[in-house]
Amino acid sequence: MCEMANEHQLKEYSDIDLGYIKRNQAHWNTFAAEFSAPGREGWKSSEPHWGVWSIPESKASILPENIKGLNTLELGCGTAYVSAWLHSAGAHPVGLDATPRQLANAAANQTEFDISFPLVLAAAEKTPFQSGTFDLVISEYGACLWSDPYAWIPEASRILKPGGELVFLTNSFLSILCLSDEPESSVSNLLIRPQFDLHRVEWPNDPKPNGVEFHLSHGNWIKLFRANDLEVDDLIELRPDDNAETRFEHFTHEWSNQWTCEEVWKLKKEPRRVS
Ligand SMILES: C[S@@+](CC[C@H](N)C(=O)[O-])C[C@H]1O[C@@H](n2cnc3c(N)ncnc32)[C@H](O)[C@@H]1O
Repeated sequence: MCEMANEHQLKEYSDIDLGYIKRNQAHWNTFAAEFSAPGREGWKSSEPHWGVWSIPESKASILPENIKGLNTLELGCGTAYVSAWLHSAGAHPVGLDATPRQLANAAANQTEFDISFPLVLAAAEKTPFQSGTFDLVISEYGACLWSDPYAWIPEASRILKPGGELVFLTNSFLSILCLSDEPESSVSNLLIRPQFDLHRVEWPNDPKPNGVEFHLSHGNWIKLFRANDLEVDDLIELRPDDNAETRFEHFTHEWSNQWTCEEVWKLKKEPRRVS
């Protein structure tokens, strides 16, 4: 069902088995075609909208207030519509992804919509950027779901400027506790997985090659943020509008209107401490 890891100690980068990166590349190279059309819809949209319920930015308030002129990096950009929105708002985005076919989708969108920004083929666990490069690092179901947090959070913190922001949106921890790996199941009203030690999660019944996800409890996230000089500004618990729809069958409106189905962490890199 899922592999457990002991999270009571923060892991060192050198102790992390990064073999899952190749598996997730194979997964995304195989399923990139399915995500091309929905990603293109994202590029067509003038207002950012977020997550499986397409909640508009005017309601979700995920982005920083002033985006103009910011150097931004999207970790696991996929089709890169988030970076396209940031570009339209006056930022200087870079899209990074570990999967060539996903970046090909992003490049095709750039050509079609005549918007250009750098696309970088790399893993979020080890990026090619100098320390303190970005004002904003963002991820919507990208590295924040598919990379080991004990590898990508230290890296995101390293490449942020002091005072810079890290924003990421992923499945709520609660929804993962309530979601079984049975085929075609949807999130239930029962706690199905144990909370303690949840970390690496696999879906053995998904079409192959299936990927590896990572989900941490809030307490473990907070320990990891603090160890990497990231202060919590907000934890946004998204709730769909009454008439919202989703193409993802794991999540029902009835459930998501009662419990948090997706959550957004907003963090600030602490200014350098003067000793
Ligand atoms: C759900 S998709 C992209 C999300 C994006 N918002 C979209 O829908 O187009 C997840 C992306 O994460 C990328 N990814 C997975 N593991 C990664 C890693 N270790 N480093 C960078 N990107 C990764 C995948 O290649 C995939 O493009």
